[in-house]
Amino acid sequence: MTAKTLGRNLDILDKYHKYADMAELRVDCLDPDERLLIRRFPEQAGMPVILTIRRDSDGGHFVGGEGARISLMARGLAYAETDRRHNFAYLDIEEDLNVTSLEEAARTFGTRIIRSYHNIKGTDADLPVKIRSMRRSGDEIVKVSVTANSTEDVINLLRAGKECEEQEKILISMGHLGIYSRILSEQFGSFLSYCSAISEPDTPPAAPGQIEVRELASLYRFRNITKATKVYGVTGYPLKATDSPHFFNTVFDMEESNAVYVPFPADSITDFMEIAKELNIEGISVTVPYKEAVIPFLDFQSDEVRTIGACNTLTLTPQGWLGTNTDTKGFSDSLLTFLGRSNFKRQHITVIGAGGAARAVAFELHRLGAKVLILNRTVHKARRLAAPYKFAWGGLDEQGIEKMDKYRDIIIQTTSAGMEGINPDNSSSDPAAMYNFCGREEVMDLVYKPKITAFLKRASNAGCNIQNGYDMLIRQARYQYTQFTGKEFPEHFFSRVQFGET
Ligand code: ATR
Repeated sequence: MTAKTLGRNLDILDKYHKYADMAELRVDCLDPDERLLIRRFPEQAGMPVILTIRRDSDGGHFVGGEGARISLMARGLAYAETDRRHNFAYLDIEEDLNVTSLEEAARTFGTRIIRSYHNIKGTDADLPVKIRSMRRSGDEIVKVSVTANSTEDVINLLRAGKECEEQEKILISMGHLGIYSRILSEQFGSFLSYCSAISEPDTPPAAPGQIEVRELASLYRFRNITKATKVYGVTGYPLKATDSPHFFNTVFDMEESNAVYVPFPADSITDFMEIAKELNIEGISVTVPYKEAVIPFLDFQSDEVRTIGACNTLTLTPQGWLGTNTDTKGFSDSLLTFLGRSNFKRQHITVIGAGGAARAVAFELHRLGAKVLILNRTVHKARRLAAPYKFAWGGLDEQGIEKMDKYRDIIIQTTSAGMEGINPDNSSSDPAAMYNFCGREEVMDLVYKPKITAFLKRASNAGCNIQNGYDMLIRQARYQYTQFTGKEFPEHFFSRVQFGET
């Protein structure tokens, strides 16, 4: 609870009551006058409340001296009532704060101590030692909240938690790279997870990386996650916005399976594969920039992966990691459905781009009998991609564009040129600006954000049928579902399971 007044915190608590099991009152976020009135908050909140007064050096807002902070804590505990629900259930005391009288008072009144340590700059090296030594008496809960500057930092916290399995504790990797430590609390050995009512304008997250309370409770079904829950997820970097958790968790929820799908931003694929082992992850979607880098970690792979050199799906089997690529089928299903065809025989097709996405497209076009021209800004990459399939190739220049005359039944744009956030000035967002559509081409752009790229807009204005990459995205995710679970995708859910934004 990070609002400025107790009344506002109570309103927010009322609104989100059903998603939370306890509340943490961040007294340091309250207006100074309000801080004097905290004593009745637990009774008004109607659920167990943690009393926390976080210093600015630990990432909080309290800038007064330690004396003032201790007397506020004492005020929160004072006049304990026999009905314990009216007292604070927990008191957060930093490991370096030594006030025996406060601890004694807390114990006497049944308020449990959370003994906390924060590192807002990084992750300490000797975490198991730290976790073991922080606790002053057996009934304290140790809280270690450290900042993840790398995926290796998260591994260290996770392993430290395993080493101290017997101890009641809360382990948090703060920041974006540690976001999954807040969802997989069970797997990290944590007693609880903190979240925020971020959607309310006046309650900022209490620490970097915190998840919105409804999202944690409803999308990730946090309360259902146990050590027996099957863990799946998506890895990539920076992986700031991904719609895949929404897709998979909605399906898991509808079919009531004990499974969760989590975002795993990782700054190193090598370190992420260690995380996968530690967390017993059973299936992984792989996205930018690791589709190629993940291949050395595979124990075996599908023909597509071998030919294309890119893998977007990892499934744990008894023989190890199986690598497959669902972009291929996702693409061809989507385009064939759009065209109402069953193959590409006698179709003359131009593919714009020669990167990872184009490799999946070329594989499928070849498999399904198309005649193809590949055009790329960097010409030698077009030649390299075209050679094994005996496709035509060229640059995205006048000469290359002229070649399109013979390959324009279908045009497929595979580059990232028109993607949101890639070209803020929009100057080079149309990679084939020199090409004039005649209006009879069928045009697909693999980009789905924005829904209509500059390239698609031009095609549409010329009278072409157009399709973006959203349908392909869903179709490849359905294949991933089958790969992960061994089950057919439950089609009857399909109309209800969409990615976040269509
Ligand atoms: P992906 O996996 O999304 O295909 P990639 O493998 O990095 O990503 O490939 C990016 C593709 O987009 C390449 O074909 C790239 O062209 P170059 O090989 O010349 O780099 C193409 N691309 C990216 N930005 C582009 C732009 N502004 N205009 C034209 N092509 C562009």
